[in-house]
Amino acid sequence: MKSELLVAAIAYLLGNIQTSYLIGRYFKKTDIREHGSGNAGTTNALRVFGKKIAIITLLVDALKGVAAVYIGMNLGGLGLDGGLFAGIAVIVGHNWPFYLKFRGGKGVATSIGVGLAISPLSALISIAIGISIIAKSKYVSLGSIVAITIWPFLNILVRGSFEPKLFVFGIIMATMSIYKHRENIKRLANKTENRLGQKKS
Ligand code: G3P
Repeated sequence: MKSELLVAAIAYLLGNIQTSYLIGRYFKKTDIREHGSGNAGTTNALRVFGKKIAIITLLVDALKGVAAVYIGMNLGGLGLDGGLFAGIAVIVGHNWPFYLKFRGGKGVATSIGVGLAISPLSALISIAIGISIIAKSKYVSLGSIVAITIWPFLNILVRGSFEPKLFVFGIIMATMSIYKHRENIKRLANKTENRLGQKKS
């Protein structure tokens, strides 16, 4: 139990590293959460700060997902269970950071990192599907939601067996993503969602 708590605490704190917020705050004197969609994530970093900061945000936020899973798997010999535990904690840390009054991002890049570290092939297929949806529709939110939601189902196909723990984990990850995208979903339904390349929300 001690190792599980330690893994959860480390992963939650890793998730708290809010790349776009910290770059905005310290290098641009701008709180990203007060601009564009108000989200501390890659898409809004692109809107508010431009390509370079968006790419850094994507990479660092994904990397912290990968790092959390590796720490979870290797600390205290917890194996895959530890990786899954850490995967949830790092996304929770990203979405609800304690020092930002629990107002963080939507966990897309971090979920990508977690997915790649746990089941890389299905994650790559999910990412490819997500990117095609974004390329066609210009809705990053739609591509992100679909990519994260199909991952648990792709795991069954790609890995050739139904692994209950991995499936439940994937469903929790998808539920968190859908919950965080609830305003985007309303805008998608109303056809008022921001498209990629559009400056303002
Ligand atoms: O990066 C999250 C993306 O799916 C939507 O972001 O800023 O358009 O709400 P945003």
